[in-house]
Amino acid sequence: MKLFTNKKKLQKEIKNINNISFVPTMGALHKGHESLIKKSVKESNKTIVSIFVNPKQFENKKDFNSYPKTYKNDIKILKKLKVNYLYKPSYSDIYNFRTKNKIFVDKFSKKLCGQHRKGHFKGVINVVNRLIEIIKPKKILLGKKDFQQLYLIKKHIEKNRLNIKVVPCKTIRDKNFIAYSSRLRKLNRYQNLNLIKIIKVLRNYKNNLICKKTRYNFNKIKRDLLYAGAKKVDYIELIDLKTLKKPKRNVYNLFFAFYIGKVRFIDNF
Ligand code: PAF
Repeated sequence: MKLFTNKKKLQKEIKNINNISFVPTMGALHKGHESLIKKSVKESNKTIVSIFVNPKQFENKKDFNSYPKTYKNDIKILKKLKVNYLYKPSYSDIYNFRTKNKIFVDKFSKKLCGQHRKGHFKGVINVVNRLIEIIKPKKILLGKKDFQQLYLIKKHIEKNRLNIKVVPCKTIRDKNFIAYSSRLRKLNRYQNLNLIKIIKVLRNYKNNLICKKTRYNFNKIKRDLLYAGAKKVDYIELIDLKTLKKPKRNVYNLFFAFYIGKVRFIDNF
């Protein structure tokens, strides 16, 4: 694996590769990332992974500074998975140039996490746009756990008529149905047990809704999550993935965001 910290050197290296796949990350790699990377390595000519903790997508400095960093372990994983290139830029390497594309933030950004994390999606699209202008990949692989992010990046790519295929990848879960997430490294044992309880509550709730044994009642489910150990619940919403609206048919995903201690967790199933 070749490591680049400078975009000019990276571009020189990859300029003749016309089929490169890209997996953007903020490091602290876990089984979810591994699954995206394995898929990319299997299905493409060359794979490039980026590690860049993007300050512009965090609402506050404390959260940015405390984002988990496991660089040595990340390198081990990337080598094991036979990634061709790692791009680990500095802040200025990413932000010291004028972009060609216009940042497009679709109105779906106003829902779900958009109501609780001001400027977050604009920050995500800004950095992903810069990364794709530098790398010019044919494909970008993104996880369905962050469905809203995935959708908004796809819309930005379409709006700018970029020739990049967005490949949605399935969410990888542990034996307790918890989606892998870098931030979960910050939970202690007690908080981990609470997370297991909370996900169990949410799964039961969704199953009962589908079997029509219960009705959608945000306040009740919120109370149940707080009781199970959540510190704060940002939202729990049912969304039809086709219309991105409240479901009119019995096919939907349950989207949610809550805090355990200082750790914010999002998922949908
Ligand atoms: O999902 C993430 O890790 C980040 O939001 C991304 C896509 C790498 C942009 O910083």
